[in-house]
Amino acid sequence: MSENKNSETLTAQDVTGASIMLEEVTKTYPGQKKSAVGGLTLEIPAGSIVMFVGPSGCGKTTTLKMINRLIEPTSGKIVINGEDVTGMNGDELRRRIGYVIQAGGLFPHMTVATNIAMVPKMLGWSKEKIAARVDELLELVSLDPDLYRDRFPKELSGGQQQRVGVARALAADPPVLLMDEPFGAVDPITRQRLQDELLNIQSEVQKTIVCVTHDFDEAVKLGDWIAIFNEGAQLEQYDSPERILANPASEFVENFIGSGAGLKQLTLTRVNEVDLEEAITTTPGKRASDVLSQVQGAGRKYAVVLDSRGRPLRRLDRRQLSRAEIIDGTYDQNLPVVGEQATLNDALDTMLVASSESALVTGRRDVLLGTITVQTVMEAIAAANSAQDGDHSAPVGLNSGAINVVDIEGEAAKPDGEPV
Ligand SMILES: Nc1ncnc2c1ncn2[C@@H]1O[C@H](COP(=O)(O)OP(=O)(O)OP(=O)(O)O)[C@@H](O)[C@H]1O
Ligand SMILES: [Mg+2]
Repeated sequence: MSENKNSETLTAQDVTGASIMLEEVTKTYPGQKKSAVGGLTLEIPAGSIVMFVGPSGCGKTTTLKMINRLIEPTSGKIVINGEDVTGMNGDELRRRIGYVIQAGGLFPHMTVATNIAMVPKMLGWSKEKIAARVDELLELVSLDPDLYRDRFPKELSGGQQQRVGVARALAADPPVLLMDEPFGAVDPITRQRLQDELLNIQSEVQKTIVCVTHDFDEAVKLGDWIAIFNEGAQLEQYDSPERILANPASEFVENFIGSGAGLKQLTLTRVNEVDLEEAITTTPGKRASDVLSQVQGAGRKYAVVLDSRGRPLRRLDRRQLSRAEIIDGTYDQNLPVVGEQATLNDALDTMLVASSESALVTGRRDVLLGTITVQTVMEAIAAANSAQDGDHSAPVGLNSGAINVVDIEGEAAKPDGEPV
């Protein structure tokens, strides 16, 4: 196990996440012959994002819910930051662990603010402190507090509900965040944005996040580590996305990754890891001929029109510039833009949709950072293919159930043991 620099107990003040250790955890539901989770030992390092993937019914949700004891393990131990939480009060434990379920799981009769405030209220925070925290969290998930705090969930889009779900889970600043297919119910573009947002949030708050997904690409994009499960939560492979893609441990894993593993390398690299081209920028009201000569002088195709806060509004190519007199400040809905946390895969998608050889890259508060081109993406693929992955070692992950069946002492199998 890693990470013992934090205090032994979980406190709401922990900024870095807590380490989680599942020790030979088994869950056998009443009346079931096979265990849903069989003897799983899994180390989840503090401050990392661990993704659970695997076929339907393989035990992902069961494993996740045993971490906050929404489901009680049949046997085994769960240790969080060195503290065995298997015997502690479940309600108390759950106040210290954020939990996000599909579609946000918001209470429909409560406003956004009341939903987010639930755990802080239970913890007895003052009204002022709660109100300030609600606004802070809404800002964090990019929802304007003045517009959204008093709405009801049905007055929000699916993606917005999910953001509120994330805000609620983070409310009391828990060191651990559990997410069960949090972005399952939204369209691909919103999904991409929510993923980027989660990564932005994580770079600020450094929680320990365990997240279930059906989507292997999502696991590659978000995960520091990916656990690939087979039936009974049998671990097929537990490693970094890079190494799983490069060296699938079994045919099962190979099939799970699916075709195009080479192209999935594009999901491993983020836009903020490659060199961006500086854009020629201008603002509404400028003389088009001046901008045109700037664009021509730099050998570029476009100028990017920015608003007063540095956010891109539209692109104007040489032809448009030569026909205009004054720079027009209208907003182009189809402008290809990606966030800096987006993957090269996302960037390429955005370019294809816009039939453009380049896309604009924005950072915090949607400010323009530069331009990414198809050429940059191609070079990054070539570089990734020739680069060797570092020799970092993976966290511990194995199933002991199968081994325990053979009893060295010659005793009969224990009553709580695995059904064979
Ligand atoms: N309350 C329950 N009682 C009995 N069996 C259950 C119960 N909950 C889950 N199971 C069974 O345990 C196994 C694991 O279920 P689990 O919900 O953990 O799967 P999952 O990997 O999350 O699947 P999915 O991807 O479909 O959500 C399944 O075979 C399921 O039918
Ligand atoms: Mg599930």
